[in-house]
Amino acid sequence: MTVSSRTNPAADRPGGSAPAGPLLELRGLRKSFGSLHVLAGVDLAFETGKTTVVLGPSGSGKSVMLKHIVGLLRPDGGEIYFDGARIDCLKETDWTDVRLQIGLLFQGGALFDSLTVEENIEFPLREHTRLSREERHERVARALEVVDLKGMFRKLPAQLSGGQRKRVALARAIVLEPRVVLYDEPTTGLDPIRSDGINELIIKLKKSLGVTNIVVTHDLVSARKVADRCVLLLNGKIAADGTYDDLARHPDPQVSHFFMGQYDHEDEKD
Ligand SMILES: Nc1ncnc2c1ncn2[C@@H]1O[C@H](COP(=O)(O)OP(=O)(O)OP(=O)(O)O)[C@@H](O)[C@H]1O
Ligand SMILES: [Mg+2]
Repeated sequence: MTVSSRTNPAADRPGGSAPAGPLLELRGLRKSFGSLHVLAGVDLAFETGKTTVVLGPSGSGKSVMLKHIVGLLRPDGGEIYFDGARIDCLKETDWTDVRLQIGLLFQGGALFDSLTVEENIEFPLREHTRLSREERHERVARALEVVDLKGMFRKLPAQLSGGQRKRVALARAIVLEPRVVLYDEPTTGLDPIRSDGINELIIKLKKSLGVTNIVVTHDLVSARKVADRCVLLLNGKIAADGTYDDLARHPDPQVSHFFMGQYDHEDEKD
């Protein structure tokens, strides 16, 4: 089954004048690992051309949710739609078409240590396209420019700072010019200045390329800066949904507890 055309309409809409409506939708998504119920019916529609921030404490299932969106995990129940087509029940061979349109910035970056920056970023192009060597080089150069690392082809990951490694991982996530980019804790481990640089990139991708951003984080500074909308994942469900300020002023004590960031012994219980 073909899910959608391989062209990138988002790239044709500078200024982010994307049509309203969800590009991606989770309906009643459920996932357990043995007796651990991680997702217990997540309903969430991600609007085209907007940045949605998914907040939630450690272990609440944020990464698990992202892995479902790119087919690395299969749900126990519920449905996932991309561009109007159901994708959760696709055969493995049919996932390629979806994965070409959704870039994932893994938690921790996950660069190949023995490959240069160029080889790392080139990897998805080798896997998924028939571009020539020159064309691949051109695409890598463009991706490096987007993440403000122009010309940095030959370095190895070990020679880069944490912030630069994140940028390279982001360049790899966008090199196929995806319509959706998923960011798993993009600012974790970075100082406030480097974090802000990543926030600026997230905003730039939305504004200049019309990318639909889904940012998973517990960095509230980052959330406040990049989010058009914030949702909070708690106890396997969406506990709050609105602007950053809506959530920060939310009347539910569980929601405000998360925002206040005050440690509670209950927080250690799984
Ligand atoms: N493949 C797996 N097998 C078994 N348990 C898993 C698996 N993946 C995740 N889990 C469990 O599911 C729960 C949610 O994990 P997840 O990685 O989604 O949390 P998270 O919200 O991303 O946390 P963090 O903010 O620390 O990254 C955790 O208890 C984790 O141990
Ligand atoms: Mg995680």
